[in-house]
Amino acid sequence: MASLSLVNVCKTFKNGQIAVKDFNLDIKDEEFLILVGPSGCGKSTTLRMIAGLEEISSGELWIDGALMNLTVPQKRDLAMVFQSYALYPHLTVYENIAFSLRVRNIPQIEIEERVKKAADILCIRHLLDRKPFALSGGQKQRVAIGSVIVRKPKAYLMDEPLSNLDAKLRTQMRVELSKIHKELGATIIYVTHDQVEAMTLGTKIVVMNAGVIQQAAPPEVLYNNPVNKFVAGFIGSPSMNFIPVWVERREERICIVFSNNRLFLNEDNAHCLIESGYLGRRVYLGIRPEDFHETGPKEQAIKLKVEIKEVLGSDILLHGKIGGNPICGRLKPDFPSEAGTEVSIFADMNRILLFDLDTEENILDH
Ligand SMILES: Nc1ncnc2c1ncn2[C@@H]1O[C@H](COP(=O)(O)OP(=O)(O)O)[C@@H](O)[C@H]1O
Ligand SMILES: [Mg+2]
Repeated sequence: MASLSLVNVCKTFKNGQIAVKDFNLDIKDEEFLILVGPSGCGKSTTLRMIAGLEEISSGELWIDGALMNLTVPQKRDLAMVFQSYALYPHLTVYENIAFSLRVRNIPQIEIEERVKKAADILCIRHLLDRKPFALSGGQKQRVAIGSVIVRKPKAYLMDEPLSNLDAKLRTQMRVELSKIHKELGATIIYVTHDQVEAMTLGTKIVVMNAGVIQQAAPPEVLYNNPVNKFVAGFIGSPSMNFIPVWVERREERICIVFSNNRLFLNEDNAHCLIESGYLGRRVYLGIRPEDFHETGPKEQAIKLKVEIKEVLGSDILLHGKIGGNPICGRLKPDFPSEAGTEVSIFADMNRILLFDLDTEENILDH
């Protein structure tokens, strides 16, 4: 497997559309790297530039220390899995998987060994004699992935390979892709718009917006310490809540104030706000649904008018408004709450985030 490096990579299409701006990234050997972001943010274009299917407008692509900008796709030794998979209808599953090895003149014995290993990893050994018409959608997708993992390229490139599958199969395939990554020790670059897929699969995640990298970090860093409001809102489900608040000093303590609520900050955060000159200014409070609790100090209670209660079994989601801002809280199932009533909930003040109102950057980012 291999390491890749993108240096100041930009893509401007002929019609003037700028798809990727100044993309800088090192991808380590055996990394499961995820490119994630909303539709149209430049994920596929980035992947296609790596694959050689799209010309790099400016910047450099390095694979294992060699500059690849002008190398044709076949010579880059990368394997790509697409969203829509094509199998040869007249060939068996075995022959579909073996196809890319046959055209490379690999000896028969090795082909058989590699096809069987791929089939075992994907649990499709019993399907090897079938033709594609006799397979379910999920089985076809596995065969398509099998036909790529039999090869031993420098890296695997995958563009939303699971997006055509139903929810249950997607979850199954997610687990299998993680296994494949471990068993093959593969370098994988994987595109998705689904933040759950990104969080569960990635060893490192690159969050993109409008052609620009917002943050590149391991999943837990993105979740706990997002660099800005975009990343904070994109990662996590349901999304983080945002409320514009005033930073004030009251009773000798630093607090945030919004629509009849006053929350005292912990010492570290209070110190950080004063140091960076936010006293008396407005900022965004960011709080994840799971960081609301049922109990807490009385003076820190937040009144939430519940509009909708969703029962998930292990938790409940309470949707309502605080001072006109839509809020969602994830609470314990026995928490007394009904739609139409007002409940007191408590924000975990050690988990809150604060964002600059203009730049939207994380103020508490240490
Ligand atoms: N061949 C093309 N010509 C012009 N614009 C394109 C072309 N391909 C993609 N784009 C534009 O580039 C941007 C990024 O597209 P893409 O990389 O496909 O986004 P994503 O995969 O993140 O959804 C979009 O605005 C898209 O419309
Ligand atoms: Mg795409």
